[in-house]
Amino acid sequence: MITLDYRNADSAILGDENGLRLEEEFACYKDKIANIIVDLNKRKDKLGQWLQWMNLGYNEETLWYVKEYAAMVQGRFDNILVLGIGGSALGGIAVTEALLKPFWNLLTQEQRNGFPRIFFLDNIDPDYMKSLLDTLDLSKTLVNVITKSGSTAETMSQFMIVKNILEEELGDNYRYNIVATTDKKTGILRQIAEQEGYKTFVVPDDVGGRFSVFSAVGLLPFALVGIDIDEIVNGIKDMDLALKNTDIKENIAAQNALIHYLMDVKKGKNLCVMMPYSSRLRYVSDWFVQLWAESLGKNKDKDGNEVHVGPTPIRALGATDQHSQIQLYNEGPNNKLINFIRVEEFDTTLEIPQIYEYTGIGYLGGKTVNQLINAEADSTRVTLADYGRPSVTIRLPKVNGYFVGQLLYMLEVQTAIAGELYNIDTFNQPGVEQAKNYTYALMGRAGYEESAHMLNEKMAKI
Ligand code: PA5
Repeated sequence: MITLDYRNADSAILGDENGLRLEEEFACYKDKIANIIVDLNKRKDKLGQWLQWMNLGYNEETLWYVKEYAAMVQGRFDNILVLGIGGSALGGIAVTEALLKPFWNLLTQEQRNGFPRIFFLDNIDPDYMKSLLDTLDLSKTLVNVITKSGSTAETMSQFMIVKNILEEELGDNYRYNIVATTDKKTGILRQIAEQEGYKTFVVPDDVGGRFSVFSAVGLLPFALVGIDIDEIVNGIKDMDLALKNTDIKENIAAQNALIHYLMDVKKGKNLCVMMPYSSRLRYVSDWFVQLWAESLGKNKDKDGNEVHVGPTPIRALGATDQHSQIQLYNEGPNNKLINFIRVEEFDTTLEIPQIYEYTGIGYLGGKTVNQLINAEADSTRVTLADYGRPSVTIRLPKVNGYFVGQLLYMLEVQTAIAGELYNIDTFNQPGVEQAKNYTYALMGRAGYEESAHMLNEKMAKI
């Protein structure tokens, strides 16, 4: 199992000004945490609670359909192109980057064991899009368009552009190059998919975008490029079992949620840095940033009080950002809690040759880069503690499907528990919807005329 080391958040190491008396806090919050865990597990099967993501590890049916489709199309496409944004893309990017061989798209087909390359278009920069679309042979590309609402402007405009090119190139057969992942009944994409005869997968009810990585949203692209989705699911299930433990001393998601919450409300550490010491895990930080920000950044609590809460998540990468952000973290405002992710065993052991023995770099010779990266993780953690800066370390035995499944699921549960501690609605995103609606209005969508008028008036002034 992955583990959590929270010693560097404790006052025994940091002192009382910046550290927490964790033994005492765990005792004090014991019942509250136990109640939250029981309550989440009780509510998870009820409709309207947005907790269906807690059941995704047990969705045998989706697993079966995803594997069946992936097997059916295997060998037919050179590329997978995923169209989606936010929760419909970030989990896919994080997991494929973690689990595929690094530089996957540069490998030969043989090196990829016959599986396709994978590209995610999660933005609408015209130069970037055009360049990718010009580069890919779309006739040999399977396009997975993912949108829960079926109407997100970015995704749907990408879809319209790609669909047109496909139709021009393939005539009526273009439909076999599109697979849509969307709501089972509602939304424009569902309607189009049914009218035009696309293969479809479902974003389940009561699963928000940022919690959807283990639905078909993520599982389908993973299976299409040959990632073992059973291994991921086994990791989720084992972690789910561990996190059902109501004893905070045994539950790492509850521990980390409480530490983050208390660091924010008691010690003023309202910035939260996610810093894996692993390039393969770098996009887990992007995924986490959305999860933490959209879930916890809320202006009202559940009782309707104005609260404006939410720690600001920041992404960093070890060791790279030791040479960029760490100066600030050590000596700037003491307002951050750093989450290190440390990998115990890398797939490869890379030795540094014993050359330049009699120079200042001679000490590196004969060591491994593996030793170096973990020595850097240790030295950064200790330096931060010397400066009185709190950190926690999540340890992954290896980067594989089992542990990556555990890690992401653990962070999801941690977010849900943190939301309960802040007493906010973790699963809504009115701030995102507001911006989406303004975009619809500015782009002339029917039904948004009043908003468009109001926006144009506002924009004339500012
Ligand atoms: O987490 C969320 O709900 C959002 O980030 C959505 O995933 C994002 O806005 C994309 O929405 P949709 O999947 O409806 O296109």
